[in-house]
Amino acid sequence: MAAKNKTVYFCQNCGHEENKWLGQCPACKEWNTFVEETVVTGAPGKARGGTKRAQTPRALTLREIEHVQEDRYSSHIAELDRVLGGGIVPGSLVLVGGDPGIGKSTLLLQVCQKLAGDERDVLYISGEESLHQIKMRAERIGIFNDHLKLLCETDLDTIRETIEREKPQAVVIDSIQTMSSDLVSSAPGSVSQVRDSTNVLLQLAKGLAVTVFVVGHVTKEGQVAGPRVLEHMVDTVLYFEGERYAAYRILRSVKNRFGPTHEIGVFEMASDGLKEVANPSEYMLEGKPQEAPGSVVVCCMEGTRPMLVEVQALVARTNFGYPRRTASGCDYNRLNLLIAVLSKRLGIDMSDEDAYVNIAGGIKLNEPAIDLGIILALVSSYSNKVIDEHMIAFGEVGLSGEIRGVTMPQQRVLEAKKLGYTTCLLPQASLRQVKGAEGIRLIGVRHIEEAVAQI
Ligand code: TYD
Ligand code: MG
Repeated sequence: MAAKNKTVYFCQNCGHEENKWLGQCPACKEWNTFVEETVVTGAPGKARGGTKRAQTPRALTLREIEHVQEDRYSSHIAELDRVLGGGIVPGSLVLVGGDPGIGKSTLLLQVCQKLAGDERDVLYISGEESLHQIKMRAERIGIFNDHLKLLCETDLDTIRETIEREKPQAVVIDSIQTMSSDLVSSAPGSVSQVRDSTNVLLQLAKGLAVTVFVVGHVTKEGQVAGPRVLEHMVDTVLYFEGERYAAYRILRSVKNRFGPTHEIGVFEMASDGLKEVANPSEYMLEGKPQEAPGSVVVCCMEGTRPMLVEVQALVARTNFGYPRRTASGCDYNRLNLLIAVLSKRLGIDMSDEDAYVNIAGGIKLNEPAIDLGIILALVSSYSNKVIDEHMIAFGEVGLSGEIRGVTMPQQRVLEAKKLGYTTCLLPQASLRQVKGAEGIRLIGVRHIEEAVAQI
């Protein structure tokens, strides 16, 4: 079959394909994300699948498959190793997504620095910045040795040749949206280019056992394909997030073929690169007010890691008829629900009170275990009573005002104990799962009424 050009429309947000232009993507419901692209059909697929192999492979039983221990190596950045599931896997393709300016290039350059320091050959390929710009960034970060090589290139065939010639152990591609291949006619950053480039990199990674880190920008405009388009092709997807103006950054794994997901690594952006934050609880609680009503410490879980954060609430008389509710860092609907539970079950009427809830430190939590903290902070601010500053609380609140058990209570209690808290308010149902908590007073509660009585 001869090669044929076909015009298709791709959603630049999720990669959904349509034969005609649509205003809204039926898959991800984003508006104005379809862009016309030309794809070649027929010939290439034929050429790839055309040569028949001499021997068709035989299907195997599980017992026949040899067990190979993946020999991971450490990046010497403990927070990154944790998120990757215990180190870097050779031959894996890791996507690092995030908003522009969040620090993806900085993080990966620091990974290069550590790996080169370990006498591993690494290649950093940038399609966005000049060698001069990279050098300036490297000078801020520290000292690099000659195991790191840099290249400014956007042509995929040249990149492939360079990788095959240099045979590095790890490669960084910054960013996938700038890479293009002559075989695909669409512009760099389009869905077909991004997918084709990822495919080439995937083959290189598996064929040469090099680890490839790929940077993908999260974009809002919809003209450039976002990292979601290639999530299903890569082995590991990490997102780098954080408030642009807050110093801390969170690296989160959302997909990992070689380890657990929903692990986080916490970093802080300093003037000389990213610094690891080994104890995020201490960091999140920095600057917590003392003797202030409306403030309580809760313990949430990020992956397998407990983290103490401060929940703040401000309840104030409404000036105009309609009360305002603001939730920053937690779910707005959840806040409304908890206010309704307070009114119905405890008779605390907030219908002429504004309520503002804020999770300090700019972190976003959507775990139900913070419900009890929100309730306590609201009641504390409403009644203007201070909550004991040596107490933490966690528990999910149900519609009847009951307090339900949460996962991993033991880890939460131990984290509180480690940071010197002396009292912990927790669901009665979780109480018997907690062991080794001498030195911290545990108060099991069944209903919000019992919990509120502790203020
Ligand atoms: P960068 O890694 O370029 O972001 P990305 O690749 O995700 O677009 O980081 C950009 C920001 O980080 C920039 O605003 C400057 C800041 N920065 C520091 O604060 N300290 C540093 O040591 C470095 C290298 C960057
Ligand atoms: Mg960058």
